[in-house]
Amino acid sequence: MFKLTAKAVACALSFAIAGLAQAADPIVIKFSHVVAEHTPKGQGALLFKKLAEERLAGKVKVEVYPNSSLFGDGKEMEALLLGDVQLIAPSLAKFEQYTKQVQLFDLPFLFTDIQAVDRFQRSAQGQGLLKAMESKNITGLGYWHNGMKQLSANKALHEPKDARGLKFRVQASAVLEEQFKAIRANPRKMSFAEVYQGLQTGVVNGAENPWSNIYSQKMHEVQPFITESNHGVLDYMLITNTSFWSGLPADVRGELDKIVVEVTAEVNKQADALNQADKQRIIDAKTSEIISLTPEQRTLWRDAMKPVWTKFEGDIGADLIKAAEAANAQ
Ligand code: LMR
Repeated sequence: MFKLTAKAVACALSFAIAGLAQAADPIVIKFSHVVAEHTPKGQGALLFKKLAEERLAGKVKVEVYPNSSLFGDGKEMEALLLGDVQLIAPSLAKFEQYTKQVQLFDLPFLFTDIQAVDRFQRSAQGQGLLKAMESKNITGLGYWHNGMKQLSANKALHEPKDARGLKFRVQASAVLEEQFKAIRANPRKMSFAEVYQGLQTGVVNGAENPWSNIYSQKMHEVQPFITESNHGVLDYMLITNTSFWSGLPADVRGELDKIVVEVTAEVNKQADALNQADKQRIIDAKTSEIISLTPEQRTLWRDAMKPVWTKFEGDIGADLIKAAEAANAQ
């Protein structure tokens, strides 16, 4: 008869214990992002962690890595696909390698304000874009607002001709490159973590950002002029690795889906107030002159930048552009 030795019993026991410990180990969700914590995305990531760990205590652990501390924006998408992080929320300008349709959001002067952006994102066409990358194993879980972009520079920008010849930092987006070429400025792609230094050392002379990114990165300290142009939007898509999300136990995924809806609503409710508060902080800091545009000057910027639309209409789709424009009118 087969006889178990003490050693074999100990070994079998240790495997059983390890197995039990493994079954009880929480699922770790790494959420990596490139901005500061006191920004719409930074706050959203922290709220997601809080709610997930409260409601799925012991089952889920969320690690949030802000400020490009785990992956910078050149690497975070790759990390998501490799399973090194499970949640990221890149700006909508950073998806062109994966889908051309999301380039829609970069078209200058497409949306009149953040409310119009919100209406489009909630529409059937907007929601459809969340699924545009599923064949690449990327699932969009929701849109998070940051806000409308403002132009900052080392000189006063009232009209497009004031920007001629200046070097502007752009996100990794062909549309944004073309937008600056349209006003005869020089775009330069640069990762978010490098922007402050780029502006400080004069590698670039200007940039485009919502108030919250300008303030939290201290860009106003190295940009003496900020034009309140609201010429485009900087929002995010919260995304996950499709295989990871669909492989979660059903109860965990169901609860996380609910939490995502709740966090998305909260981020989108708070984002504008956060941006306005940061605008006020910049005014109070007295580092930069804030330039308001007259309606005529705004028209000049719009007319100069709008030809970019036709260049990308084929990739994005004329119907999608129409649907986005329709969100302005409501
Ligand atoms: C940028 O690169 O300017 C932004 O995408 C950063 C961010 O995530 O808000």
